[in-house]
Amino acid sequence: EWTPGNVIADQVAAIKAQVGDARVICALSGGVDSAVAAALVQKAVGDQLTCVHVDHGLMREGEVEQIERDFVAATGVRLIVRDEKERFLTALAGVTDPETKRKIIGREFIRVFEDAQRDIVAEAGAHGEEVRFLVQGTLYPDVVESGGGEGAANIKSHHNVGGLPDDLTFELVEPLRTLFKDEVRAVGRELGVPEEIVSRQPFPGPGLGIRIIGEVTAHNLDILRRADAVAREELTKAGLDGEIWQCPVVLLADVRSVGVQGDGRTYGHPVVLRPVSSEDAMTADWTRLPYDVLATISTRITNEVREINRVVLDVTSKPPATIEWE
Ligand code: XMP
Repeated sequence: EWTPGNVIADQVAAIKAQVGDARVICALSGGVDSAVAAALVQKAVGDQLTCVHVDHGLMREGEVEQIERDFVAATGVRLIVRDEKERFLTALAGVTDPETKRKIIGREFIRVFEDAQRDIVAEAGAHGEEVRFLVQGTLYPDVVESGGGEGAANIKSHHNVGGLPDDLTFELVEPLRTLFKDEVRAVGRELGVPEEIVSRQPFPGPGLGIRIIGEVTAHNLDILRRADAVAREELTKAGLDGEIWQCPVVLLADVRSVGVQGDGRTYGHPVVLRPVSSEDAMTADWTRLPYDVLATISTRITNEVREINRVVLDVTSKPPATIEWE
């Protein structure tokens, strides 16, 4: 019988058998899959697991805290956080091309993760221990897709931040390989992973870096983060999270338009709301959000984020548009 409890019991036994006394590492991205995979491994082998979170500064409001504080408190996972915000900002300075952004973010991520990895291996070695395993939150559809050969046309280089460097010598621990997303969520809930993480919508590895059309600067990130937080809060309040696959909020940093805000003329930036409904992100339709919810989001964003004077709605399906703007 399929129950989250049975899956956990089976996987805990399987992980123990696979790993033995060796140590295990895991890159925690903040997404559902890596969080649930890490929680399962922690349940199986406790402090033999060390997680690394690379804080690239491209997460949305509150997300780093949810990992650093809430996830750790709920699961007891041992976590190392690398604050690399400055490093990523420096590497991204002046870059506007989407694929170049992805490559830079992917490259820097791997460098930081490998660095953390070396530290962990060295520390373990000093205690005569061995780090042999790496946890991956691979799901069943990923297994099918990569085996099937067909997959998605490579329209964007989906650097899964959290993805594997090529030259690693670790054995993989993949406790979610037989599960679908909704099953992963059920297992996560049963393990006590915080609801904000378990119910999180898909978020690209390069994060807000590919939701700024233009240069990724600390200032642009701050603007987008505040606008995004308003949109997410209102969508949740309206009970629409179940209907929406994801709702990117995109900052058009390269565009300005004239507005009147308060007592003066402004020349601010637009943000785009991109609510989509989808089964698998391969195709998507734009979600018909209620007008009153759109109105509230628009009013709040333009009131609360001074740099934004216009909120626009993307009413394009995929194809021809993609879900993200970059
Ligand atoms: P698109 O924009 O191609 O997105 O319609 C399809 C799904 O993939 C996510 N996405 C990414 N995920 N790294 C990721 O890990 C990426 O570079 C990336 N680009 C897009 C997107 O959020 C959507 O769920």
